[in-house]
Amino acid sequence: MKKYRVAIVGATGAVGREMLRCVIQYHFPYESITCLASSRSKGKILEQDGMQFVVEELTTESFNDIDVAFFSAGGSISKEFVPIAVSHGVVCIDNTSYFRMHKDVPLVVPEVNAEDLKWHHGIIANPNCSTIQMVSALKRLDDVFDIQRIVVSTYQACSGAGNAGMQELHDQSLAVLQDQPVEAHVLPAAADAKHYPIAFNCIPQIDLFDPINEGYTKEEMKMVNETQKMYHKPIDINVTCVRVPVLRGHSESIYIETAKPIDLATAKDLLAHSTGVELMDDISHQIYPMPILNVGSPTVYVGRVRKDLNKENALSLWVVADQLMKGAAYNSIDIGLKMIEMNLL
Ligand SMILES: NC(=O)c1ccc[n+]([C@@H]2O[C@H](COP(=O)([O-])OP(=O)(O)OC[C@H]3O[C@@H](n4cnc5c(N)ncnc54)[C@H](OP(=O)(O)O)[C@@H]3O)[C@@H](O)[C@H]2O)c1
Repeated sequence: MKKYRVAIVGATGAVGREMLRCVIQYHFPYESITCLASSRSKGKILEQDGMQFVVEELTTESFNDIDVAFFSAGGSISKEFVPIAVSHGVVCIDNTSYFRMHKDVPLVVPEVNAEDLKWHHGIIANPNCSTIQMVSALKRLDDVFDIQRIVVSTYQACSGAGNAGMQELHDQSLAVLQDQPVEAHVLPAAADAKHYPIAFNCIPQIDLFDPINEGYTKEEMKMVNETQKMYHKPIDINVTCVRVPVLRGHSESIYIETAKPIDLATAKDLLAHSTGVELMDDISHQIYPMPILNVGSPTVYVGRVRKDLNKENALSLWVVADQLMKGAAYNSIDIGLKMIEMNLL
């Protein structure tokens, strides 16, 4: 089997660290792994599965001997360095938002729209973390019942704002419990935004407010636009994104309306047999997904599946996934593995 020279850009970050673990533990066939980050991390050692990786500084020369690069160092880094990598013949799988809505860049969750990988031109975009777990959970329901409308509220973990987001929750929680003043420097993770404490709080803003769609944030519009791009249809979607004091793992309360009437047993059966999805739904034993249960897992967990009280064609469900994994690192590596399987890499 062919082996690839892999680069991870942003390897020291919350996502990048999981990318290194996923490349190794999910058996991406690598010949070498080059870990890249900013000059601040140059020389730092990353340990994984008994191996040590010395972090190198990302420069324009970083891609001379690379076949596949997983990018996760922010949109501005992808904007500058992905084209350089592509010009060296590197296939780039980009976890940032920068290329997601570009017309010539496929946006892919393998179990949802792997066919779109066929028209890539060197760049494949990994969707937003909240989008991935939603489209993955709903895929088979859409195939059978034809989803027309989605109303979703998210409960997003602080690690969605990277290492700094997790640190902020940790520091603020300690400060509150020790009766110390609470400082807010990171959330709601949006450049130039006013900051609020997240410890013992919820913040109904993720990213900046969108200048075009009045009242909605950019994070909310990512879920709308990216879902339509991957489902290839103009589905109606209404999103509210909220940051909650959870370290890791996004949760979503999702309501769907479908063209065809929904049979609950069929819906549960579809969810139980969807690729990458696990049905955790036994209310008689209080079994349902929660973010603390599945940290580090690549799976999307679904529970609280119930029909609408009044409509035959509507269903509610609760969807949880470790967004650093399924919503970012694992999906990126899974894209690479799928490309190998499809002879596209
Ligand atoms: N966190 C999530 O749940 C999630 C989910 C989906 C997508 N994403 C996206 O993934 C990207 C990374 O997120 P994260 O949560 O991992 O953030 P993070 O923890 O803050 O990590 C950022 C990474 O980018 C590197 N970096 C920053 N500036 C750089 C520069 N000038 N040159 C080279 N590397 C640089 C950092 O290196 P240093 O350590 O050297 O500073 C670090 O490795 C973002 O675009 C984010 O939107 C995140």
